[in-house]
Amino acid sequence: MIIGAPKEIAADEKRVAMTPDSATQLQKLGYDCLVQSGAGLHAGFSDAAYEKAGVKIAKTAEELWKTADIISKVRPPEADEVKFLKKGKLLISFFYPAQNTDQMALIAKQDANVIAMDMVPRISRAQKMDALSSMANIAGYRSVIEAGNNFGRFFTGQITAAGKVPPAKVLVIGAGVAGLAAIGTATSLGAITLAFDVRPEVAEQIESMGAEFVYLDFEETQQDGAATGGYAAPSSPEFREKQLEKFRELAPEIDIVITTALIPGRDAPKLWLADMVADMKPGSVIVDLAAERGGNCDLTVPNEKIITENGVTIVGYTDFPSRMAAQSSTLYATNIRHMMADLTPEKDGQTVHNMEDDVIRGATATFDGSVTFPPPPPKVQAIAAKPKEKIPERTAEEIRADEIAAFKQTTKNQVMLLTIGGAALLAVGAYAPASFMQHFIVFVLAVFVGFQVIWNVSHSLHTPLMAITNAISSIIILGAILQIGSSSFLVTVLAGISIFFAGINIFGGFLVTRRMLAMFQKS
Ligand code: NAI
Repeated sequence: MIIGAPKEIAADEKRVAMTPDSATQLQKLGYDCLVQSGAGLHAGFSDAAYEKAGVKIAKTAEELWKTADIISKVRPPEADEVKFLKKGKLLISFFYPAQNTDQMALIAKQDANVIAMDMVPRISRAQKMDALSSMANIAGYRSVIEAGNNFGRFFTGQITAAGKVPPAKVLVIGAGVAGLAAIGTATSLGAITLAFDVRPEVAEQIESMGAEFVYLDFEETQQDGAATGGYAAPSSPEFREKQLEKFRELAPEIDIVITTALIPGRDAPKLWLADMVADMKPGSVIVDLAAERGGNCDLTVPNEKIITENGVTIVGYTDFPSRMAAQSSTLYATNIRHMMADLTPEKDGQTVHNMEDDVIRGATATFDGSVTFPPPPPKVQAIAAKPKEKIPERTAEEIRADEIAAFKQTTKNQVMLLTIGGAALLAVGAYAPASFMQHFIVFVLAVFVGFQVIWNVSHSLHTPLMAITNAISSIIILGAILQIGSSSFLVTVLAGISIFFAGINIFGGFLVTRRMLAMFQKS
């Protein structure tokens, strides 16, 4: 079968759904690849680069749509394109079926199949096909770069001869895919980063990235994220009030706000209100990633950058992935390639549209002449942490009694272990020669001490610990150094080999330890 990627016709869309690299992989699945002339130009892929990867070039859109059996594209098709979707054709693109019902019905009537890349369920197996996440990741990164571009100061704090520069303070609202990417970028640029999300389970993730989670003094049982397909559920009005109160308190000290809060299928919640913008310092920047769905900020104008009276820049662009077309095309084309791999189990260039497959079923909007949207919920749970089980509250006496009981049990185990060990040692001593016993006792103590040391070290530090003990164990290098001057050639060679390997152990051991420990250090 032939898989083709047309040139996007939406104004300002620079992405392309097939890259020379993805085409090479698609050919390995048995497909012939076709691309419309100039389709990849804005993303940095020339026709020549495609041809070099074995891709044929279609001169016109019409030629492409008529020749290809499978059409992979980025944006939902426009009316001019839908007319080509006849029986037997498969379209793979962002499709937004909930907002595109008329077109979906028309395509079903024309008997063509549609796989909507925006409907790929958020389950572990489908992560490699999750185009929404790929694009949100790019948008999150780009939002920080865009903020930096509009912010007149450094992100990181500096002490220079000309004076002290304080670090920028960034607040990220909504720590989904885009939010986490923004947090990662802001912290790596050296900004003090704060982040907030209605899902408390992301707090740990945020903190592990070097940002600070903004806690609210509020108790609310969140709906299980897994049951809502990996997304958040709407919060109560009381919670929202608490949230706004906190944001109001933060507004005067924050330099950059990046908002990404969204609950699928709803308008973006208004979280950064006009009075908060008014409280911000001149020169501050707001990047509203939710602009497409109305924006999280009261004053956002979709697709535009505005500057308020008090000098706050508000960026409402909705095309961040397209502004990084080379990167987003590469990731999107890879997502499509993985989807094609799922659709081609035999790697013979023939698609098998298996509606029993959770991912394929979830993403299919039309199939065999019928509309198949909305899909049933996936059989596998979505990727979202389950809410923590409620631990019954205990009194201080109960906690103390438990601690005493645990201490008693540990002591009992240790006494028992020592008694058994001592008896075994005496039994061996009764029969073994004295010279053996000397070494044996040292050996037993070494095992005991080694075990105690490793047992009490946290798991995450086992690798550096092993590396350092490895390095220390290379004390044997001393023996080899003493022997290298031996008169026997064989001994010299063996000593040389020993020095070589023990040297690797020593230097490698210390190097690995240093690197590993650096990973745990905050800069
Ligand atoms: P996501 O669903 O992974 O993340 C949204 C996050 O917002 C979730 O963690 C959710 O818990 C949180 N949230 C929901 N309500 C909240 C509230 N009231 N307060 C605080 N947090 C709340 O979504 P993803 O993929 O990260 O996308 C984020 C936004 O970025 C979406 O609006 C999406 O449309 C937009 N986007 C924009 C692009 C652009 O070019 N402007 C490109 C790609 C995505």
